[in-house]
Amino acid sequence: MTKMLLRLEDVSGGYGDTLVHRGLSLELAAGQVLGVIGRNGTGKTTLAQLIGGELSLAAGRMVLGGRDISSLPPWERAKAGIAVMPQTGMVFDALTVAENLALLGPVTLGKLGERFPHVVDRLSQQAGSMSGGERKILGFVRTMLSPARLVVLDEPSEGVQAENIAHMQDTIAEARAAGLACILLEQNISMVEALADSVIALDSNGIVYKAQGAQIDRKAMLAAISI
Ligand SMILES: Nc1ncnc2c1ncn2[C@@H]1O[C@H](COP(=O)(O)OP(=O)(O)OP(=O)(O)O)[C@@H](O)[C@H]1O
Ligand SMILES: [Mg+2]
Repeated sequence: MTKMLLRLEDVSGGYGDTLVHRGLSLELAAGQVLGVIGRNGTGKTTLAQLIGGELSLAAGRMVLGGRDISSLPPWERAKAGIAVMPQTGMVFDALTVAENLALLGPVTLGKLGERFPHVVDRLSQQAGSMSGGERKILGFVRTMLSPARLVVLDEPSEGVQAENIAHMQDTIAEARAAGLACILLEQNISMVEALADSVIALDSNGIVYKAQGAQIDRKAMLAAISI
C-alpha cells in the first residue's frame, strides 16, 4: 500500500454554524495529483481553506506525513509543507512582482521564468496593476516556488489564457514527478483530466463521485457535476 502524505478523516467545517463540509474524507500520496471538481458554491474554496488552516475544523482530523495538523494555524501548516494558492488575493497588490516573489526568500525563477516570461519582464511592476490572469500566474509561480510537500491550487486556470494553462500543467506535472503532491480544485475539467491521478466531485451533499487512474472518465465527471 502506498504511504499517504495527507489524510482528511471525517472533516466537517464551514462558516460559523453553517457547515459546508460534513464528514469529508480523502487521502493523497506524495507525487500524486488529486482533482477536486464541482460547480460554483459546492465548497472547493472552503476545502482549500480547511486544508490551509484559514478555516478551523468543526470536527474530524487532518494528518500530514503522520502528524496531526488539525489544530495548527496557517503559518504552522506552511512550515509543515503545505502551500496554498487561494482563489483570490493570491498576491499582494501593493507590492511589485519582485517583492511578491522575495517574500519567499531568495528564489530563482529558472524554468518558471522561461514558461512565464511576462513575470520576468514585469518584476518592477506593481502586482495590483496587472490583469486578473497575470496575477493568477504570479500567484501560481509563487506557490510553485514555495518549499512545499503539498500544494493546494484553488482554480489556478480561472481567467488565464490557454497557452499559460498549458504551461501551468507542465509545471505541475514536472513537480509531481519530483514527488510533490497537489490538490487541484478546478471547474476546468480538461485541466483536471490532463493531470489528476484521482478525482473527487463535490455537490451540495458532499462527495458525489470518486475515480482513480484509468477509471477517470470525462463524461462521468461532467455528469457528476451536472454540466
Ligand atoms: N465567508 C463566507 N461566509 C459564509 N458562507 C460562505 C462564505 N464563503 C462561502 N460561503 C458559502 O459556502 C458555500 C461553499 O462556497 P465555496 O466558496 O467554498 O464554493 P466554491 O466551490 O469554491 O465555489 P466557486 O466555484 O464559486 O469558487 C457556498 O454556499 C457559499 O455561499
Ligand atoms: Mg471557490
